[in-house]
Amino acid sequence: MMKVFEANITHQVSDFLRKKLNRTTTVETANQKMFDACGIKHFFDSEVEFEALKEIICSTENLVEEPDRDEYGDFQTNSDLATKVAKFLKQGSSDPKIIIEPTCGKGNFVIASLSTFKRIEKIFAVEIYKPYVWETKFNILQFFIDNPDARKPEIEISHFNVFDFDFKQISKEHSKEEILVIGNPPWVTNSKLSSLESGNLPTKSNFKNHSGLDAMTGKGNFDIGEYITLMMFDAFQNSNGYFAFLVKNSVIKNVVFDQKQRSYKISDLQKLTIDSKKEFNVSVEASLLYCKLNETPEFVCNEFNFYNHSKLINKFGWVQDKFVSDIERYKHSNDIDGVSPFEWRQGIKHDCSSIMELDRVNGHFVNGLQQEINLEEDLVYGVLKSSDLKQTVIDKTRKFTIITQKKVGQDTSFIKKEFPKTFNYLHKNKSQFDLRKSSIYNNKPDFSIFGIGDYSFAPYKISISGLYKNYFFNLVLPQNRKPIMLDDTCYLLGFDKLEFAAYTHILLNCDMTKEFLQAITFSDAKRTFTKDILMRIDLLKLSMQFSGLKIKDELDEINERYNLNIKLDKWDEFIKAMKPVHSQQLTLLEPVVKYKKRRT
Ligand SMILES: C[S@@+](CC[C@H](N)C(=O)[O-])C[C@H]1O[C@@H](n2cnc3c(N)ncnc32)[C@H](O)[C@@H]1O
Repeated sequence: MMKVFEANITHQVSDFLRKKLNRTTTVETANQKMFDACGIKHFFDSEVEFEALKEIICSTENLVEEPDRDEYGDFQTNSDLATKVAKFLKQGSSDPKIIIEPTCGKGNFVIASLSTFKRIEKIFAVEIYKPYVWETKFNILQFFIDNPDARKPEIEISHFNVFDFDFKQISKEHSKEEILVIGNPPWVTNSKLSSLESGNLPTKSNFKNHSGLDAMTGKGNFDIGEYITLMMFDAFQNSNGYFAFLVKNSVIKNVVFDQKQRSYKISDLQKLTIDSKKEFNVSVEASLLYCKLNETPEFVCNEFNFYNHSKLINKFGWVQDKFVSDIERYKHSNDIDGVSPFEWRQGIKHDCSSIMELDRVNGHFVNGLQQEINLEEDLVYGVLKSSDLKQTVIDKTRKFTIITQKKVGQDTSFIKKEFPKTFNYLHKNKSQFDLRKSSIYNNKPDFSIFGIGDYSFAPYKISISGLYKNYFFNLVLPQNRKPIMLDDTCYLLGFDKLEFAAYTHILLNCDMTKEFLQAITFSDAKRTFTKDILMRIDLLKLSMQFSGLKIKDELDEINERYNLNIKLDKWDEFIKAMKPVHSQQLTLLEPVVKYKKRRT
């Protein structure tokens, strides 16, 4: 295989071009010849390009090293998969006249469309990377060399940034014809792009309108493929036809989630799972997202296996105003879908583990840099990470941390006066704190931490790991009379009363909660559990499923196993605390706050 303009080209295509263009002198004639040969309009963008190609194909091989293309989320679809997708669409009665491939790469979906659909009149393809524009052109040429009798549609391959391309113009011009939007947009997130300092982003990169802390801490994180999917719906939802994109499963989940608000005119939404290891050699789960355009909006998505489409695997999406990962399962547990009477919190965030994560060794502490340090005990607390949440009841920690503040933003100058050893240690390592990248630390007191408040100092806690797919909650008790902290991979409820914590623990570990959580969590999410997910568990409704006797049995079991003495006598008080009575003073640490649901 040769390379021309950094694009792969077969010897056959290169010979063809040499013969066709050798004696051609103007770009207009060259473009006309290419249009006649393969339907591509403006094969050459300029005279200079035409002359350059002529020179190269008349000389010898041109080998160029592959540049780093991380920022372009470049996972080219193999031609076999592209053809299977096109055939699947054809079986589903798609027979388009207009094809749109918004990030066409080497053009495998263009070729698959040419070989599958027989009525195509126009193809519009866009690609930002010039060598791929060439490779698409060469591949089309190869297709028509191999299939001289194939119908030749008009083809426009634009070397363009998809975010600047005017797709609405195409939908306006072809409002009467059946269209097919097909492709595989880049697999890259905006945060990855910002870490690469790449500008490959739409201008409105905070397009979810996440503001402030959410945008800074990653809630505003989105996949470029998601943005391009929505761009396509914006442009083509009123066109008759179909949409089919290979995207990450997380993109499909987000698209269906946002459908509630956006109400795009799409129906028959399908997620057809592919083997991304086999097809793309990556371990990100991905699927074909398929739907019909210009239909009454639908809000649920059916899941199938792409290679064996006959059996429905799952159905997810909106059930009235609730977003659900498994609609069937949800039917059995939807009773407890509401708002938690207690506010779930994320654990402590410091982004400075080498200094802040400590082991206790023979009476002193050792940090992540293996330095021995001496600290006053006052600000040191035991801390649990996700991987520590294994036992039902936990009252010991492997690790310790320094709690520099009682609430977010608190002045930290007291440390110098009251705890000189701790201050010296922190101060000596101030540069490590100053290196923290996240902008949440900007203009905050020295050694600031996040995820801290009264709830952190509650003696009794219920915890769960956000990262693991364990539908299991722990009861966390004080260690040497000091509350145990959790890190930011965990979520917690804090209680003053051991009984309240124990009752909550029983409610949360029952089968119904498990079934409910399985019905609303997505197994391929980065975090299975988030604050939004946990806030949906209506503990009050859940408590109504339990008799006093059942709670008593469960308490007896915990008491016996962990040598505790928790009684049922505060059950009525607990129920009262969960009831939203306006005048009632909650005895819990955290009052129920007005809680706004967001995407999970
Ligand atoms: C996942 S690949 C898929 C390519 C092709 N659709 C396929 O299925 O083989 C994504 C493609 O998007 C292109 N791309 C990335 N950012 C782009 C942008 N801003 N505008 C147009 N194309 C872009 C990449 O160069 C790459 O070819």
